[in-house]
This record gives sequence, C-alpha cells and structure tokens, in this order.
Amino acid sequence: MKKIHFVPVIIFLLVLFYFVAIRARPLSPGVASNSFAIAATFVIGLCFVLGPLSRMKPDAFLPMLRHRKPLGLWGFLFAAIHVAGVLIIAFGTIADPENLYSTISGIVAFAIFTLMAATSTGKAIARMGYAKWKKLQRVGYIAFFLVLIHFTIIEKGAFVSRQIGQALFGFVLLVLLLRILMILAGKKEAYKEHEFHEVHGIEKHVENE
Ligand code: HEM
Repeated sequence: MKKIHFVPVIIFLLVLFYFVAIRARPLSPGVASNSFAIAATFVIGLCFVLGPLSRMKPDAFLPMLRHRKPLGLWGFLFAAIHVAGVLIIAFGTIADPENLYSTISGIVAFAIFTLMAATSTGKAIARMGYAKWKKLQRVGYIAFFLVLIHFTIIEKGAFVSRQIGQALFGFVLLVLLLRILMILAGKKEAYKEHEFHEVHGIEKHVENE
C-alpha cells in the first residue's frame, strides 16, 4: 500500500482529535461529519497547492505530483461523506433560506469535484482530450474558491468565527493566492505534455490495446 494514503487519514484523525480532546466536544455524528468537511478542505487544498509549488520549486515538488490523484480522491471521498452527513443530520441548515448562497456554492463546488473525480483515469483523459481535461482541472481552483465562500458565509459566519474556521480560511486563501501568483509571474508547468502521465503516475490509455 502506498504511504500517501496515511496522510488524509491522519489529517481527518487530527481534526477529530482537536474537536474531541482539545475542544471537549462529544464524539457525535455531527462532530464526525464536520470533521470530514474540514479534513476534505485541507486534503483538497494540499492536493491543489502541489501545482503552484511544483512550478516554484520543481526539484522538491515535481516528484510529489504523483500524489495528487490519491490526495484528490481522498478529499473527494471526505467531501462526499460531509454531503451525505448534512443531508441526514443538518437538513434544516440547508433548507434555511439564510444559507441559500452558502448551499448553492457548496453544491456547485461538489458538482465540479464530482466531474474531476469521475475523469481521474488515463482512459477519461484520453477520451476528453488532454487540453479539455486540463481546463476542467483548472476549474477545480474555482470550485475551491466556492468552498471558501461556502464555509465563510454558512450560518452568518459561525464557522469562521471559531479558531479552526479561521485556520481553514487562512489555508484556503494561501493555496488560492499561490495559484494566482503563478499566473501573475507567468510561471509555466515544470513538465511537458508528453511527460504528464509519467509525472502524475497515471497510466496512459491507448485505444484498442
Ligand atoms: C452538496 C454540497 C454541500 C452541502 C449541501 C453542504 C452543506 C453544509 C452545511 C449544512 C454545513 C453546516 C454544518 C453544521 O453547521 O453543522 C456545512 C459546513 C461546511 N462545509 Fe459543506 N456542504 C456542501 C459541500 C461542501 C464541500 C464540497 C466542502 C469542501 C470540500 C464543504 C466544506 C464545508 C466546511 C469546511 C464546513 C464547516 C464545517 C463546520 O461547521 O464545522 N462543503 N456544509
């Protein structure tokens, strides 16, 4: 088993530990569900930040790009658990008109992440064509921005009025700022298109083989 799989699991357990041991919250379905939402955001952010980092310091971070797919899929799994959790235990929050914009941004972000997860195979990349597939990956940063909106305005800012909410806010902002900085600096990818599959550890799909 690849060691990278431990990273998302440890992030989730750390968030849960923070709530239960440090904040003395009960180990309830609500706390577990919120921990999945927070861990999802940290893991997806970690996955995304490898992009700008590999442009800045290819020597250190290019070898880490092969972790992007497993990290992204773990983050998506956690987000899916969060969505399932809120549908079951926090439906009132979604139904509250005050949370309309927060809910819409969460749904749009989740829809984009679903498309990204569904197209994370060599076969899907071949079918879509590399250029179109890359465009979808870039839309992922917009989805991540929508996540920022989602948890910032939920319940009139209740989450970001707490320490963990502020930490998550700062982290997401940092990831997005680094991406914007790379655009402004005109930093190109540290790998060529023909190196994509090898660098990312995704098998190249060849039709009729
Ligand atoms: C269908 C899409 C989504 C819906 C309906 C939804 C709904 C909700 C609701 C109702 C809450 C408040 C929970 C509470 O107060 O206990 C919440 C919080 C949150 N959501 Fe979502 N969400 C969605 C997608 C996402 C996605 C894709 C992410 C990130 C990957 C995310 C990250 C968060 C975070 C970090 C919080 C704050 C957790 C906390 O209050 O402790 N959500 N969401």
